[in-house]
Amino acid sequence: MKKNITKNKIKENEEKLYINSGLSRIIDDEIVSFHMPGHKNGKLYEKLGYKEKMEKLYKTDTTEIPGTDNLHSPNDIIKESLQKTEAIFDSGKTYYLINGSTCGIQTAIMSTCNPEDKLIMSRDSHQSAINGCILGDIKPIYIKADVDKKTNIQMGNSFKNIKKAIDENIDSKAILLTYPTYYGVTIDLEKVIKYAHEKNIIVIIDEAHGAHLGLSSKLPKTALSCGADIVIQSTHKTLPAFTQSSMMHISKNAIENNIVNIDRIEKILKMTETSSPSYILMQSLEIAVDIYERYGKELIEELYKNIINFKNELNHYKINIKNKLKNENYKLEEIEFFNIYNKDDFTKIFISSLEVGLTGYELEEILRKNYNIQVELSNYCGVLMISTIGNDTNDFKKMKNALISIYEESNLKGRKKLNAINYPNISPKIIFNPREAFYKEKINVKIEESIGKICGENIVPYPPGVCIIATGEIIQKEIIDYLKYCKKEGMEISGLKDSKFEYIQVIEN
Ligand SMILES: Cc1ncc(COP(=O)(O)O)c(C=O)c1O
Repeated sequence: MKKNITKNKIKENEEKLYINSGLSRIIDDEIVSFHMPGHKNGKLYEKLGYKEKMEKLYKTDTTEIPGTDNLHSPNDIIKESLQKTEAIFDSGKTYYLINGSTCGIQTAIMSTCNPEDKLIMSRDSHQSAINGCILGDIKPIYIKADVDKKTNIQMGNSFKNIKKAIDENIDSKAILLTYPTYYGVTIDLEKVIKYAHEKNIIVIIDEAHGAHLGLSSKLPKTALSCGADIVIQSTHKTLPAFTQSSMMHISKNAIENNIVNIDRIEKILKMTETSSPSYILMQSLEIAVDIYERYGKELIEELYKNIINFKNELNHYKINIKNKLKNENYKLEEIEFFNIYNKDDFTKIFISSLEVGLTGYELEEILRKNYNIQVELSNYCGVLMISTIGNDTNDFKKMKNALISIYEESNLKGRKKLNAINYPNISPKIIFNPREAFYKEKINVKIEESIGKICGENIVPYPPGVCIIATGEIIQKEIIDYLKYCKKEGMEISGLKDSKFEYIQVIEN
């Protein structure tokens, strides 16, 4: 280091490392994490003795040289690592994905469907699936997805709607379903897969939120064990891998019976993934698998007990406070305690806040600002906690205490219950396929003037990160009303050129 760089100068330079110093501040705050990634600020690595290895990771950032193998044609250490993972996840073949599940979903779509082929997919599929249809010029056939009226939670697809889509589109090449949904909702996947296979349709499952399902019989069955052909998991979301590290599993059956074309999958992976895959991410995947195998079952049992206690304690509080307020002749209809929704996957906990007189956006902000707790997401009706084997008893205790004191404060402030707003669960009319629409000329029009026109962008409210209206679809008033209302309340919308949501791009027909 040059001698003339004084301590002050170093400090000043550090302040100009904007991302680095911003993230350091967050580490110093020791935020309680009920969000992704699954290692929870690295807490799990420290607890299980991986700390030293993790601290040295930067030294192992390398490229393809003798001894490091090659992700795109593994032959040595990467091959051995993948073989171990295949045995643990009971797959026919597994790929480590370095560009997230996004690249796996796109590879799965483009390797099973040719241009202009039909792909049956849930209307609430992640945006990467629609983008996959743009890239591969594939025609999506949407299955209507259900949304819970009280909470706006994505409930996935019913067997009836899936069967209808298959029966009406028997010439489809593949079906893509999200299992479980972001909120932990599942379906009878075995029944769905059996039906699709009878019709010779390949089953791709977006299991981005379910990499942990194999850890406990109390969790829904894994998509592979239900018979899915291609399964994509975001290992970073619910297991302790670094952000962007995912996996794609191909079932033994799909390989043995040539249901999928492995050669084509590998060719497309070379297009959707970087040619310089990060060894740091690969190592983090391997460590996540190691933790899964060695400690996963024990840790998920601990997590299960923590969640049961958390819910029981809040329930006791709810009953006690109801009785106390009743005795004091308090007007019970004014406010109630939070409602806790714990669907099929017990690790996803949705806390409905409207009963307490708060929107989910407000609750998320209060939790972070006043209690140092960060949840995964908020919608108008509440917040979603993503818990993993990285969370401990203390995290749940802090969340329980925070909820009780937020409720008590709401009571003191005389807040009143709020009503849910309806998610516009409608299927917009499709004028152009995603790819056709993508290449059409677009113009900007005022939001109010866009109704009845063909949408020129993929509008993705977050949460849940799925397209409410896609490029090439007719814009309906209900959708615009919903977006305007939620935007005003604090919802994020991505995919828009005009982030203020005053203008929208439409296709001139
Ligand atoms: C259902 C679903 N599928 C796929 C993805 C994409 O996963 P990744 O971030 O690993 O690319 C997401 C991301 O949030 C998702 O929610």
